[in-house]
Amino acid sequence: METGIEGLHLYPGQVSATHQRRLVAALAEAMRAAPPYRPRMPRTGKPWSIRQTNLGPLGWLSSPEGYGYGPVHPLTQEPWPAIPQLLLDLWQENIKSLQGPECCLVNLYDSPKARMGLHQDRDEAALDTPVLSLSLGDTCVFRVGGLARSDPTSSFKLASGDVLVLGGPARLRFHGVDRIVPGSSRLLDDTLGHGGRINLTLRRVTKPA
Ligand code: SIN
Ligand code: FE2
Repeated sequence: METGIEGLHLYPGQVSATHQRRLVAALAEAMRAAPPYRPRMPRTGKPWSIRQTNLGPLGWLSSPEGYGYGPVHPLTQEPWPAIPQLLLDLWQENIKSLQGPECCLVNLYDSPKARMGLHQDRDEAALDTPVLSLSLGDTCVFRVGGLARSDPTSSFKLASGDVLVLGGPARLRFHGVDRIVPGSSRLLDDTLGHGGRINLTLRRVTKPA
């Protein structure tokens, strides 16, 4: 679906309910090996309102030292679990790139106050490859701006199974999550024992050699 913003594509309900449930089961298992942790902001060390973990060869990390990518979980020091095939298939369907994703960032919005401030995804060398995001569980209010922080913004809702692609001229647009709509989905409850929202962001990090 076109959003009216060049390079920003929204595919509502692209992932079926059956595949969503399968993914949450796979995530539950991955999160036993790579437990979600509360990252801290660069410089201030302020804790985020969300929890995070990663899948794939490289994980995105936020710590008082800064943002970046690393091959191991910061607490267990173990490599991140593999990205499930279902997500690799989703990447191929949408991105049609020979370069597979190297990072699947898992954002857990598991408190009613969880949100994510406006930011750009720009820690990747492969800025020519789009970012693909999948929403699971509760609906959120997603906000997108321009290429400068002070540009005007607009918002729309993302529901469970919705896929959003930020590529081309939209790859570096500011974006964030204003809030989640608690209790709008029961997807996570059955498998994880709590509600909330999970966002999966698939990214290519390095340029091909
Ligand atoms: C992100 O920008 O990393 C997350 C966006 C979302 O949760 O939908
Ligand atoms: Fe982002």
